[in-house]
Amino acid sequence: MLSYISAKEAAEKWGISQRRVAILCSENRINGAMMVGNMWIIPANAEKPADKRTTRYEREHKVELKPFVKWVGGKSQLVSELEKFIPSEGDRVIKKYAEPMVGGGALFFSVLGKYDFDEFYIGDTNAELMNAYKVVRDNVDELENGRKYHYYTARERFNSLHLNDETAVEKAALFIFLNKTCFNGLYRVNKKGQFNVPMGAYKNPTICDEDNLRNLSSVLQNVTIVCGDYTLSKDFIDRDTFVYIDPPYRPISETSGFTSYNSDCFDDNEQRRLAEFIAEIDKKGAKIVLSNSDPKNVNPEDNFFDELYKDYKIHRVSASRMINSKGEKRGKINELMISN
Ligand SMILES: C[S@@+](CC[C@H](N)C(=O)[O-])C[C@H]1O[C@@H](n2cnc3c(N)ncnc32)[C@H](O)[C@@H]1O
Repeated sequence: MLSYISAKEAAEKWGISQRRVAILCSENRINGAMMVGNMWIIPANAEKPADKRTTRYEREHKVELKPFVKWVGGKSQLVSELEKFIPSEGDRVIKKYAEPMVGGGALFFSVLGKYDFDEFYIGDTNAELMNAYKVVRDNVDELENGRKYHYYTARERFNSLHLNDETAVEKAALFIFLNKTCFNGLYRVNKKGQFNVPMGAYKNPTICDEDNLRNLSSVLQNVTIVCGDYTLSKDFIDRDTFVYIDPPYRPISETSGFTSYNSDCFDDNEQRRLAEFIAEIDKKGAKIVLSNSDPKNVNPEDNFFDELYKDYKIHRVSASRMINSKGEKRGKINELMISN
């Protein structure tokens, strides 16, 4: 009689991750592997399939995944620069990915589609955003109904609902609809915490890209999604973790005020608190990348980050983005990438 082993046992036997074994099974690359309940079992005599990847973390079948929201400060333009920091074959083993200020998750989704980490963690203080991630992961079918809403009725309805288990799916549908049709993908609330961004001028916004949402839902299955301060990621992060942190920008001009993502503000003291957290996870041995706007774009004498992160490597990368809040001036400016 054929005997079977678990994915965990196969992973140990072949010296690869359990997640990699599950991927090989789902790609039909292990003869006789079967799904029982939600676990793979593998014939004990199965051979380890040949690896067709070029680096340890790359997936063989790469999928291009796009964020499901637009987000102020989104990093889609910098993804390829940021990916250069991901350790490759030859470096020490990094198994986990953490992004505790995920926003729209430009880097996170690109990584999910291309790389093969064992575990993922994403977090953000924006409760509506984190709810939307969870609903895309857990209830993508119900979300589809989001299409039928119209902007201001939707905004009113959105503000009238208190976020709880019963309203979660409707709120996520409204959140994505409002995000795709409002002005510049901004998330801004008034003093009462009500979303107050006016409608944007899009003729034909794609509100619900069904294929992309379904792809996202399937790759989000193994991701821990947390609503709260970035420090909550502390226990997840260890020496095997690649951590990317993209905090709200320190305003680059007096008027830009671009740090108000939600009711809290991210001032210089917050930047200092973040630097303390970075020092803490650096001590744990994690591989860290942090991005921010370069204050030298506006004032060449401003050494705030150069001093705060003097013990780290500071790279300056050129990016084009809005350089004031009215969006009338776009140009090339430097972006900081700080790594250990
Ligand atoms: C610059 S955005 C990140 C954008 C993201 N990299 C992207 O590609 O869309 C910064 C994010 O940090 C979140 N944030 C602000 N304060 C935070 C805190 N104390 N802990 C965790 N997240 C926080 C904001 O809600 C916002 O989504």
